[in-house]
Amino acid sequence: RTGAVTPGSGNGSPPPRRAAIAARHLRTDRWWIQPLVTMTVLLAFVVYSSFRAFQNAYYFAEPYISPFYSPCITTGCEGDTFPEFFTGPSFISPAIYILIIPLGLRATCYYYRKAYYRSFWLSPPACAVGEPHRRYTGESRPPLLVQNLHRYALYAALVFNVILTYDAVLGFRDETGEWGHMGLGTLVLLANAALLWLYSLSCHSCRHIVGGRLNHFSKHPLRYKAWTQISRLNAMHAKFAWLSLFSVAIADAYVFLLATGTISDLRFF
Ligand code: FES
Repeated sequence: RTGAVTPGSGNGSPPPRRAAIAARHLRTDRWWIQPLVTMTVLLAFVVYSSFRAFQNAYYFAEPYISPFYSPCITTGCEGDTFPEFFTGPSFISPAIYILIIPLGLRATCYYYRKAYYRSFWLSPPACAVGEPHRRYTGESRPPLLVQNLHRYALYAALVFNVILTYDAVLGFRDETGEWGHMGLGTLVLLANAALLWLYSLSCHSCRHIVGGRLNHFSKHPLRYKAWTQISRLNAMHAKFAWLSLFSVAIADAYVFLLATGTISDLRFF
């Protein structure tokens, strides 16, 4: 026995960090398109959502409330959809107090990590393309260590999903509070709530919470069944991540247009 051999090196010496190729990559396709599009769309969302969250107006149009402002927990809130817990300074938008939950979930989401590590930090920008950073420390130390809080952001986001579903159900009332109304806004809020549930339930942490740390699936048939269903959703997590991002922005924009009087709600009954 001559000692442990490092896998892949063949002679016991540490493997080279990268193949000794002078070119930064050998790809001939337009690999930069995807990170560029991702960066553009994410930036557009960040700009739009920040503007709306700080605007502190036009987020309620009876009976609809924008998802950026729900749950609305200060006494200064427009509308009356959720218990108001405290009186904040009027110049602070109610959206600011709750932003940390959806933002925390998306910022630590495994799919979005892939998207923004590639498109913003170029780490790496694409498969088989070298990155500009010299060292890689991963998520084992600050600041990226915070990514490990993802499952707690998920727990909180599930509570938010219940509240946004409740908001969508309130969309079946009319301006006077009578039930039996349905408008385009009701459908917009319902679709948004459904997509948020699909996004959360297809989460990698959710899959692990449901089916992880089990030695024998046969001894946990219910968890196995749930894990099987969530695994199916999990394969489409990236799709749900984008669709729910768009649906939140569309639902907010619809309420904004109603609240400013730019359009009126399309009534079905
Ligand atoms: Fe995307 Fe959990 S992995 S929300």
